[in-house]
Amino acid sequence: MSPDLIGQATDARGRALAPYSGFKVGAAIATRDGRIYTGCNIENASYGLSICAERVALWKALSEGARDFAAMAIVSEAQTLTSPCGACRQLLWEYCGNITIQLHSLKGLHAEHQLSDLFPFPFDSRSL
Ligand code: THU
Repeated sequence: MSPDLIGQATDARGRALAPYSGFKVGAAIATRDGRIYTGCNIENASYGLSICAERVALWKALSEGARDFAAMAIVSEAQTLTSPCGACRQLLWEYCGNITIQLHSLKGLHAEHQLSDLFPFPFDSRSL
């Protein structure tokens, strides 16, 4: 468990724009050399345009030139741990490979998984 990564994801959650679902999520992704990029979910009145916290963090990191990732923390305040959606799993696998995913709820729950366990049998560049 990385307190720093979870702390940064928790801070990012506080910046979530989730007026429609009321479900606030924060994410933080760490590179192998220790840089951290954060994200929160951002919703829109045209619901399908909303974006998950994980993708905001990933897009910020990639657009800043980060490439070599170690772990992502995902924080919510739900009664069960918030695991990345299918679309985020696909994107994380493509750009990060088999990173550690730290799931944390402000209700006191915590778990860690390898992305390969959350996303077995992927479709990726080797499938083309
Ligand atoms: N959401 C995330 O940001 N990450 C997840 O892992 C699950 C869902 C967001 C999307 C939407 O804004 C809200 O949570 C409810 O689905």
